[in-house]
Amino acid sequence: MPSQESEPLYGGRRPGRVTVRDIAAAKTRGEKWPMLTAYDALTAGIFDEAGIPVLLVGDSAGNVVFGYDTTIPVTIDDLIPLTAGVVRGTKRSMVVADLPFGSYQASPAAALQASVRFMKEAGAHAVKLEGGMRVAHHVEELVAAGIPVMGHLGLTPQSVYAFGGFRVQGRGEDGQRLLHDAKALEAAGAFSVVLEGIPAPLAAKITASLRVPTIGIGAGPDCDAQVLVWQDMAGLSARSPKFAKRYADLAGVLRTAAAELASTGSEARSHIHEAAASYTAERKFEDVASDAYGYSEEEEESVRLKLEALGYL
Ligand code: KIV
Repeated sequence: MPSQESEPLYGGRRPGRVTVRDIAAAKTRGEKWPMLTAYDALTAGIFDEAGIPVLLVGDSAGNVVFGYDTTIPVTIDDLIPLTAGVVRGTKRSMVVADLPFGSYQASPAAALQASVRFMKEAGAHAVKLEGGMRVAHHVEELVAAGIPVMGHLGLTPQSVYAFGGFRVQGRGEDGQRLLHDAKALEAAGAFSVVLEGIPAPLAAKITASLRVPTIGIGAGPDCDAQVLVWQDMAGLSARSPKFAKRYADLAGVLRTAAAELASTGSEARSHIHEAAASYTAERKFEDVASDAYGYSEEEEESVRLKLEALGYL
């Protein structure tokens, strides 16, 4: 596949996936770039077409997909099908899988085992894990195995109980520790580092000190890239962090559409049934089954029986 190194990361059009080399080249050029989370094939496909170079299947799925209060309960088995859907729905974006809480902390070997699952079973192109010095050996182990690793420092949500809540990290002298952590991740071979919920001047200092790009979320404007949970930026989340600019009101659009459907009540429902009936009546059943669903012969037969029972045939 041709490299995209000479193209802008945001909006480049050459075929082939964005790679770690393209991301490194963007830092050298001083190009800033956007990253979004994604959890399913359809929305991931839209972000891919829009030119978002990196999509993260975050353990934030715990909040926005599974409805938990924290990311702690999320498992590898929860995230593998979501990651596979995002990979299948995209052509250009690099897809990064988040290693969930409990899947990597025990040892570098555990981190390797978890990452291998994401790469083999879901087709992920890279993984992300939380922590600094504490996980430097884990990062080395993954990098030695040929797995690109994104680090994550600051308000790391898997440590929410240790922090006593979702609180800004790296204030005062703690900033120096975070700078060391960032350098340790870079030395271990991480290709980028997410900086979440830290003071903007500290994020700027870390960004200037690293050769690899920093990706900010609630860390001020000076990081090399910015990441947002897509439901926050599209106005779907009921509550979103103050720093997350809303670019749309998806909740409003869906609420209006659902309310319109509900308010037309039985009239709308009978319209849907009529449309389905006329669609089947105008075509031979075999055409309908194959052009609408791409069914096999046995599946066609079972659908035909169901439609017959409903009185459409
Ligand atoms: O899980 C997630 O979505 C994340 C990003 C917010 C960085 O870790």
